[in-house]
Parts: sequence; C-alpha cells; structure tokens
Amino acid sequence: MLRVLVADDDHGLRLSVRSALALDGRFATDEAIDGLTAVEQAKVTQYDIAILDVDMPRLNGLEALRQIKELNPGTVVIMMTAFATINDAVSAVKDGAYNYLSKPVQGDHLIALIDRALAAMNLISNVAASAPMLMDDGRKMIGNNSHMQKVFNVISRVSKVDTPVLIRGASGTGKELVARAVHANSARKDEKFVAINCSAIPENLFESELFGHEKGSFTGADQRKIGKFQFAEGGTLFLDEVGDLPLLMQVKLLRVLQEKMFTPVGANREIPTNVRIVAATNRPLEEMIKLATFREDLFYRLNVIPILLPSLMDRKDDLDKLMTMFIKKFNAAHSKRIGGVAADALAVLKRYEWPGNIRELENVIEHMFIMENAKLLTLGSIPESLLKATGTFLPEFPQTEATLSTTVSESSFAASGLDLEDDTLGFDSSDDLDIDDDFLEPIAGAPTGDGGPMDFNAQKETFEKDFIIKALKTFKGRINQTALHANIPKKTLLRKIEKYGIVAKDYTL
Ligand SMILES: Nc1ncnc2c1ncn2[C@@H]1O[C@H](COP(=O)(O)OP(=O)(O)OP(=O)(O)O)[C@@H](O)[C@H]1O
Ligand SMILES: [Mg+2]
Repeated sequence: MLRVLVADDDHGLRLSVRSALALDGRFATDEAIDGLTAVEQAKVTQYDIAILDVDMPRLNGLEALRQIKELNPGTVVIMMTAFATINDAVSAVKDGAYNYLSKPVQGDHLIALIDRALAAMNLISNVAASAPMLMDDGRKMIGNNSHMQKVFNVISRVSKVDTPVLIRGASGTGKELVARAVHANSARKDEKFVAINCSAIPENLFESELFGHEKGSFTGADQRKIGKFQFAEGGTLFLDEVGDLPLLMQVKLLRVLQEKMFTPVGANREIPTNVRIVAATNRPLEEMIKLATFREDLFYRLNVIPILLPSLMDRKDDLDKLMTMFIKKFNAAHSKRIGGVAADALAVLKRYEWPGNIRELENVIEHMFIMENAKLLTLGSIPESLLKATGTFLPEFPQTEATLSTTVSESSFAASGLDLEDDTLGFDSSDDLDIDDDFLEPIAGAPTGDGGPMDFNAQKETFEKDFIIKALKTFKGRINQTALHANIPKKTLLRKIEKYGIVAKDYTL
C-alpha cells in the first residue's frame, strides 16, 4: 500500500480525495486539517505521496511543501489549488512539488497524475552517480556540478523508458545537447534523432511538417510528403521550442501522444507511430497555461519527466572544464595551440554573469581564439562588451609572454589528461613587436607588382600607413585596442600615427 497524506481545511474536499483514492485500492490515506498538522504527521510517517491544499490555515501549502520535502525528499507532493491561488501552485512546482491540480479535484485526473508522478519518481530516485554522459559522436557532456550530476542521473534513467521528457532551461544552457544525450543513451540510439524547431515553422505548414501530406491535399502539395513523425519512426523526435507550438497543433500533438496514431494531411487513414518525444523550451509554460496559450493537458503529457538545466551562473564550478573543452575544440578547428587562459583574463571571465550561458561562453572563447596572438588567451582578446559588463579596464600596454602568469586552465588541462607540451608556440607570437626593425624583411627587394616605386623605404611606409589605417578601422579608432589586437606597441603606434598624419578619431564609426 502506498501511504498518502491529504491536507486541506475543507472537510468535503478531503473526503472526495479520500474516496477517489479508496476506489483505486492502492492507497492508505491519512488526513490533516491544516499545514502544521500535515508537517507534524510527516514527521511520524514517511508518506509516499502528499496532496496539499495551497491555502491552509496555520501553515500554508507552500511552506508545508518545503518542510515535508526537507523531512523526506522522496515524498511526491501534489498541490491542489483554487483559481485564486494558481500563482502559488505554480511556484510550488518550482519549489519541488511534482505538479498541481485545479479544484474541484476530479478523481480520474488525480489518479492519472499520481501514476505519472510515481513512474517519474521511480526513475529518478535511487540512482548511483553516473559517469559523464557520452554523446553519439564520442563527445562528453561536461557537468561536475552537483545539479548537473542529477541531470545526468535522470538522463541515464529515462534512457531506458519511452516516456516523454520535457527539458527546461534558459537559452544556451544545453537543452539540445541533453535531448541528444537522452537519445544517444537509449535503446533507440541506432534509430534516427529528428529535431524540429517549433518556432521556425509557419503555422499553416506545421501539420504537414509533422504528419506529412498526400499529393494534392492543399495548394502547392504537388507531391506526397513524409512528415517528421514518420521520418523519426522507431527513433526520437525532438520538439525544440515546444512553447511556440500553435494551439491547434498542440491539440493534434496531444492526440498523437495519447493514441499513438496520426493522420497525414489529406489522408483518410491513420498511421501508427512509435516515436519517443523529447521536448524543450525556455518559455514559462505555467504562465502560458494561465493565459490559455499553452494547453494544460499537453503540458501534463510532456512533463512526465522534467529536466531543468541550471544557468551557467549556477554552475560556475564547471566553468574551467567547459573552457578547457572549448579551447581543445578550437585548437583543432583553427589549427592553433593555445595552452589555456591567462590568470587576469580568467578572473574577468569568472566575474562575468554569462546571460547567454554555455553558448555565449563558446562564442566568447572562439572570438578570443581569432583575436589572440599569444600562446594563452589574454585580457586583450576578450570582447569589448564583456570587458564593459565586468567593469574591466585594459592595461596601458599590451601584455607580453613575460607578464602572463600561470593559468587555471593550464592546470585543468593537466588534470584532464590532455597532453600539451611546454613549447606550444606553433604560430607567430608577439615577440617581435617593433615595426621599425626587420618587420618588412620578407618583401624587401621583391617586385611590388602594384606599380609603386621599387624602393624599400617607400614601400615600407605605404604598407605601415595602410596597415595602421586598416587596424584603426577594425578597432573603431581606439588606440589601446588597436595596439593590443594588431600587436603594435602603443608607443610605436602613436609615433606612426603622428608620422603619417593619421587622425584616429576619423575611424571611430
Ligand atoms: N554540458 C555541456 N558540456 C559541453 N558542451 C555543452 C554543454 N552544454 C551545452 N554545451 C554546448 O553549448 C552550446 C549550446 O548548447 P545547446 O544548443 O544544447 O543549448 P540550448 O539550451 O538548446 O540553447 P538555445 O536555447 O539557444 O536553443 C552547444 O554548442 C553545446 O554543444
Ligand atoms: Mg536549442
């Protein structure tokens, strides 16, 4: 028997829940008349399920939820809410309640919700810590952070079943990567993973995109077309940005989830489907339900196993590992041998709040790779917007190798077993900074081909002037930035600017 606690100050409601549970036969039910009593009872009995009213005397449902979860994190909590307290029910879900039911509570809804909750909890609980998630292409998903470890546990659990998964998280937190990991670690891994971005499809083409169409079923349908469901048969269908699914399509998707059958546009036959649905969104579905722009019943269907991805701010302990991974990736992509991040640059990157999460981190590291001339990623190659956001001012003179201190990433390279030799300088570094010296050796004496005088000094001056103007344009007339990125000592740059009568301000736009 599963132990259930029903807490509500309304006697009639307690009774109706109790009788629905009694009818089912699997539950032993206790009642509590308010929040405080509920918590007291939870101290004595480990309940499998607690059904709590949001608005109760002495201790409200939200606080009771928190205390019961603290006493026994394994208790599945379902909130009951009247329309007036729906906001609180939504925040209760964020605080760890499995879901909420609107009053008056219907017996069959309650039982269905309990069944889904138990299935999900069964999967989630009692799992051993898992190794890093291996992707189909051998890539690893980084996540030493404790929240990510939980996510990995859920992924490895859900990989063994076919229930829908709903992945939530802000932009760039890795939702698609998790969807791919669910597929890659499942029994369906040798079948297709088909992704569809719900925000990118025009509303009138949606149905055909998902279910296909018969020839001639609408203007422009001059060929029979297979939809994504059929295409993904036996595999996984990833509905990205599911919050952008038009309402009519929400109804149709719900039907497919319930009946495992669909009808192509213009066809008069139903086709059975065996597809695992993984959906993702960064939209507030609970709020959308209130505004009637997302269907509650579809939400329940999709949200059988929720995976919530933390923002990068909430997993800063993974920052080093992620950076190391991206440095390795871009070394390969750009044929460089960057050995890590300089200490002062790293301090800035750690100070930043990363609103665009891992995707933004990846973009910033790539930007730094392109701009960087040293063997470590330095302060000078950090995008200006990021410097500004962190209140960082660049030093007057560009850093040279000698001023670069040890880096955290270098040590995490060592820890990760990546072999980076000491002498990683595989490209031109900033050791020769003064243009005055032998900077133009390579073209001295060579035919110019551009009709200019065959004179070393004249050619050198033309080149220097053009080069400096080009660099100033690129860095919007900023002396410090130009000096850093174009690798000219600031003193030299200022001297040349004066010599050639260049006006840096002309290039600020
Ligand atoms: N844990 C991780 N380990 C390694 N790389 C990751 C991880 N999470 C995300 N990434 C990388 O970060 C980038 C963004 O991830 P992804 O596209 O999955 O995010 P998303 O949440 O779907 O973003 P959006 O909301 O913008 O669609 C990808 O290049 C992905 O490979
Ligand atoms: Mg995405």
